[in-house]
Amino acid sequence: MQNLELTDNEKKMLHGEMGGAKQKAMEILVALGKIYCAERMIRISSAQIAGVSYKTIGDAGLEYLEHMAALEGRVEVPAFLNPAGMDTERWEEMGFPEHFAKKQIEILDAYSTMGIKPTCTCTPYHIGIRPGEGEHIAWSESSAVSFANSVLGARTNREGGPSALCAALTGVTPMYGLHLKENRVAKLIVDVEGKLENRTDYGLLGLLVGKEAKGKIPAFRGIPAGENELKYLGAAMAASGSVPLYFVENATPEWNVAEDARHITVTQKEMDWMKEKLNDEEDADLITVGCPHASLPELEEIAALLERKPAKKPFWVCLSRGVKEVAVEKGLAERIEKNGGKLVADTCMVVAPLEEMGFGTTAVDSGKAATYLPTMCRQKLVFGKLKEILWK
Ligand code: F3S
Repeated sequence: MQNLELTDNEKKMLHGEMGGAKQKAMEILVALGKIYCAERMIRISSAQIAGVSYKTIGDAGLEYLEHMAALEGRVEVPAFLNPAGMDTERWEEMGFPEHFAKKQIEILDAYSTMGIKPTCTCTPYHIGIRPGEGEHIAWSESSAVSFANSVLGARTNREGGPSALCAALTGVTPMYGLHLKENRVAKLIVDVEGKLENRTDYGLLGLLVGKEAKGKIPAFRGIPAGENELKYLGAAMAASGSVPLYFVENATPEWNVAEDARHITVTQKEMDWMKEKLNDEEDADLITVGCPHASLPELEEIAALLERKPAKKPFWVCLSRGVKEVAVEKGLAERIEKNGGKLVADTCMVVAPLEEMGFGTTAVDSGKAATYLPTMCRQKLVFGKLKEILWK
């Protein structure tokens, strides 16, 4: 087994000289480092921590967080949260269960005691948190990891919620995996014959390629893609194949492809097949978009669509509170809400307790949401692009 060298400061943390929480955090990071044969720790510039919704972490998670906060765990680097299980301001009006809300507030309080910002979003990059190329970070939500690695060129492994918390409390993470340039090499080249006209198409492509990737980093040739499209592509690959990094020719900062990379072509027929497979029902009780959390340009598109024809069913637009605040200032929130949409901040359709709130069929336009809603929320699906699901 590789020897893991620690600095004097890291040793002090490990030996409990800097408090109980840092000691526990360092014990976990050292164990991880040994498992993955890291030679040393690397300093990180930020941590993004998943494991925030009461629905996903339950009472055991809450107890763990309160314990770490009571041990005087305080962050060493900027750290921020993944979505919680509810809109922290509108939960009552929206019908979130009271017992759930109480526990959710306790979780957010524990994180805040440790100095972690309640950004509650999987798209920190839409609110100005954008690590630069080559910057080491410890992020944990799978679509955020994919975006940071691929679109921004930062370096992170796909952390679990607890390991990202440990990294936040110590300011370091073991140097292995995607922190090392030699591991950031694509072994799957992807050409696309199917049409890529909107985020739903990118989600379908991502679901298909994620299943093919089987632990390999994919490299796409010749696809047109801006940041929003890449967000949906990466999120879907992360959901269907745990892909933490991908390259797109002439779009992502890195393009490293192995000489012996395997080659696949995704056809329109395969994309149509996937779309059909994701449709269980004709009609939904709830329409949701914003997986990953919506950006301002997406809100512009939604506002314009609703002005043509308002939503007739509950329609959630999931987003960060930071983006919502700008949307309110710009008048976008009003344009969406007066035409039947609801801006739902701090949470999303997957980590909210939809099943407890009486919803059984949800319409989505995102490959990632379509992957998780049946298992995590016991939902049947209607899947399609926004225009299709909005006015069905
Ligand atoms: Fe974000 Fe929730 Fe989707 S955390 S990526 S909106 S499942």
